[in-house]
Amino acid sequence: MLPAEELPKRWYNILPDLPEPLPPPLGDKQLQTLPQLLIGECLKQEFSPDRWIDIPKEIQQLFYQAGRPRPLFRAFNLEKALGTPARMYYKAEFYSPTGSHKVNTALAQVFYAKAQGFERLTTETGAGQWGTALSYAASLVGLKCTVYWVRAVYKWKADRRNLMELFGAEVFASPSPKTKAGKALFDKNPDHNGSLAIAISEGLEDALNDNKAIYSLGSVLNHVLMHQTVIGLETQKQFEMVGDYPDIVTSCLGGGSNFGGFAIPFIGDVLTKGKKIRFIAAQSQSAPNLQGEYKYDYADHAELTPQLKMCTLGHQTEFPPIWGDGLRYHGCSPIISLLRNKGYIDTVAYPSDEKHVFERAKLFLRAEGFLPAPESAYSVACAIDEAIKCREKKEEKVIAFNISGHGFLDMEGYRSVLGLK
Ligand SMILES: Cc1ncc(COP(=O)(O)O)c(C=O)c1O
Repeated sequence: MLPAEELPKRWYNILPDLPEPLPPPLGDKQLQTLPQLLIGECLKQEFSPDRWIDIPKEIQQLFYQAGRPRPLFRAFNLEKALGTPARMYYKAEFYSPTGSHKVNTALAQVFYAKAQGFERLTTETGAGQWGTALSYAASLVGLKCTVYWVRAVYKWKADRRNLMELFGAEVFASPSPKTKAGKALFDKNPDHNGSLAIAISEGLEDALNDNKAIYSLGSVLNHVLMHQTVIGLETQKQFEMVGDYPDIVTSCLGGGSNFGGFAIPFIGDVLTKGKKIRFIAAQSQSAPNLQGEYKYDYADHAELTPQLKMCTLGHQTEFPPIWGDGLRYHGCSPIISLLRNKGYIDTVAYPSDEKHVFERAKLFLRAEGFLPAPESAYSVACAIDEAIKCREKKEEKVIAFNISGHGFLDMEGYRSVLGLK
C-alpha cells in the first residue's frame, strides 16, 4: 500500500525520452479539425515536449475519490500454486469504482472539458469499461455523456449498460442510425457487430455536429497514455518500498492505454537509466495489432482522424468478436508502436477461443481471490506463462503485471468459455 500522500503529483510524458522523435500525425483536413476533435488541454499535452506535467489539485482530489493510490500485491499464493521461483507482483487496478484503469484518464479529461465550458462528452467503448468510466467521471463533474458501444458487446453486457445509464449517460449500440458513419453500415446490416474504429467515427461525428459537445478517447493517444502513467509511477514507488525491481513487465494491450500506463515509467528507466527489463504486451490472435505493419493509418473507420504512424492491421478490417473485446482494435498507440518497432517491446497473442486465458484467470482467482476482467485475463495468462518458464529454467525472475479491471460484470464470457452452468 502506498500512503495517500505518495499519490503521484505529476504525469510522466515519455515523448522527450523516446529513442527518436515520434512521427507527427498527417492529413491536412483532419489536422485542421483537431481543435474541434480534442479537448484543448489534452491537445496541448498530446504534443508537449515537457517530461513531467503537473496533475492539477482538482484531478488529484478526484483520484483520491476513485481510490488511488492502488495496492501492489506479491502473489504469494499463486507462486506457491505454480511452484515457481519467480517473484510475482500484481498491481490492483481492479479496485476501481467502475471496474478498470480507464477512470484515470476519464477523470482528467472531464475536468479539462468542464473547464473549457463543454456540456457534453461523446465517446466510443468496446468492453464497456471505458464507456462506464467516462459516464462515471462526467456525472461527478456534472457533464452529459453519450456512448457509442460496439454492438457485439452491447448485446451481452446489459448490466454494464444499466450502470452507464444510472450514471446518466445515453448509450447506443454501434453502428447506430444516429450518425452518417453509423447509418451507412447499419442500413446494410442492422445486426452489424461493430468495431471500435466505427464507434470512434460515430462519437467524433456526433461531437463535430454540436458545439457544446467534445469527443473523448479512452486509449491510443499520447495524452491518454500519459494520464495512465499514474499506474506505473505508483508501482515504481511500491517496488522501491519493498526493495525489489522487475525483470519482466507485462499487461494486456488493445489500443495501448493499459499497457502504456503501467509500462511507460519503467520503459523510461530503460531509456534513461540503463535498466534492463523485458516488456511483453499480451494480445488476442483475433486482433494482434502489434504484429501489424508499422505505417500511417487512420484511428477510425470513417477517416475523420488524422493518420497516425502505428502498428496496424487496417482501419476497415473486420475482426471476429471475442469476450475480451477491449483488445479488438486495429491499431496500437503511436508511442508503443515506435517502441515495438525499435525492439523494446515483445508481444504474445493468445488464441481467439480464449480458453487458455480464462483458465489462467481461474487459477488466479483461486489463488489470489479476485476475478480479472476478460481483457485482464490476458495479463494474468502472460504472467503465469512466464512464471512457469522460470520454474522450468529454475530462474528467480521478478514478474510485474497489471490487472486492469475486474470481471464481475463479465460472467457471461466466463460462463461460455469455461462451460459453467
Ligand atoms: C479491463 C480492460 N483492460 C484493458 C483494456 C485495454 O486497454 P487499451 O485498449 O487502452 O489497451 C481494456 C479496454 O477496453 C479493458 O476494458
